[in-house]
Amino acid sequence: MNAPAHIKQDSTTSAGATPAERLLVMASDDMAAVDALILERMDSPVGMIPNLAQHLVGAGGKRLRPLLTVATAQLCGYRGTSHHKLAAAVEFIHSATLLHDDVVDESELRRGQKPANLIWGNSASILVGDFLFARAFNLMVETGSMDALGILSNASSVIAEGEVQQLAALRDVNMTETAYMEVISAKTAALFAAASEVSPVIAGCADKERHALRDYGLKLGLAFQLVDDALDYGGFESALGKSIGDDFREGKMTLPVIRAVAAANASENTVEIDFWHRVIVDHKQTDVDFETAVSMLRKAGALDATMDMARKFSAEARDALSVFPKSQWRETLEDLADFVVDRIN
Ligand code: IPE
Ligand code: IPE
Ligand code: MG
Ligand code: MG
Repeated sequence: MNAPAHIKQDSTTSAGATPAERLLVMASDDMAAVDALILERMDSPVGMIPNLAQHLVGAGGKRLRPLLTVATAQLCGYRGTSHHKLAAAVEFIHSATLLHDDVVDESELRRGQKPANLIWGNSASILVGDFLFARAFNLMVETGSMDALGILSNASSVIAEGEVQQLAALRDVNMTETAYMEVISAKTAALFAAASEVSPVIAGCADKERHALRDYGLKLGLAFQLVDDALDYGGFESALGKSIGDDFREGKMTLPVIRAVAAANASENTVEIDFWHRVIVDHKQTDVDFETAVSMLRKAGALDATMDMARKFSAEARDALSVFPKSQWRETLEDLADFVVDRIN
């Protein structure tokens, strides 16, 4: 996979850092308000709820999705405060999916620490995830925008559908690229799209701008998940704060594996075909299999192909912003599209 040169270069300059960090600085007042809301609304007299939620929320995370909501609000010249509630709701939905995801994926690392379910147990993680989902809906209702509520509630059901579709396709070595794209559109890109669409809606933008921002978020989310799936085979655990190789151990078909299996089939390489069948379908894996898988992915050019596709979507995300006049916010959102591809965490 390509070296994350962009991050290395930029992070040495004090003014800019990465586009995500630059956005965080530009939107620091907004993000402070969002963080305060998040802290306030995850509170509950039932102590296990704030304890468990704080474990996840306090560990940071990139806050990319709420940043999209506040940055697109600024881009649209929005002058109210509802974007803070929507951004907090977006991060709550994301947090809820992470709590549920770590149970489903049996992860051992999240944001550089033990996932909540390994401390409080699976039941607690699922229930607190439900609580955060519900709190997200409280926040959305408070904004009084039926359109924003519609967009985010639709995204929530689409995310769940994507997760179930992915579960049903687990260990299916014949999973198609089309099915994979459906899964990542649903489980990841739907929330990026919704996070970017709600602000033009509350700002009263024309349909053209609203659709452009939705498209931006969708393409950004697709690029983001493609990179995530490449990093699961080629990233660094310490930077990611997540375990490498989780997808492989689960028998999850992501684009890198789909491409490597296709290459093995095309060249009728029975050793490789049998390997993928054993580790994915039979789910029989030994300690050296992950390394073997990575070398097969590299030989097939599957990681580069995944990154190329991510770059294509990132470029489309950038292009979607062209309906807006040039501004600092547009430029930073454009840069964010590059960052998503160059990221190491
Ligand atoms: C993790 O998202 C879930 C995926 C869609 C891959 P992030 O990488 O944005 O997670 P945090 O919030 O920064 O921890
Ligand atoms: C991320 O799923 C999507 C959701 C949480 C809905 P993944 O399982 O691919 O993400 P990570 O790698 O655990 O963050
Ligand atoms: Mg998952
Ligand atoms: Mg996971």
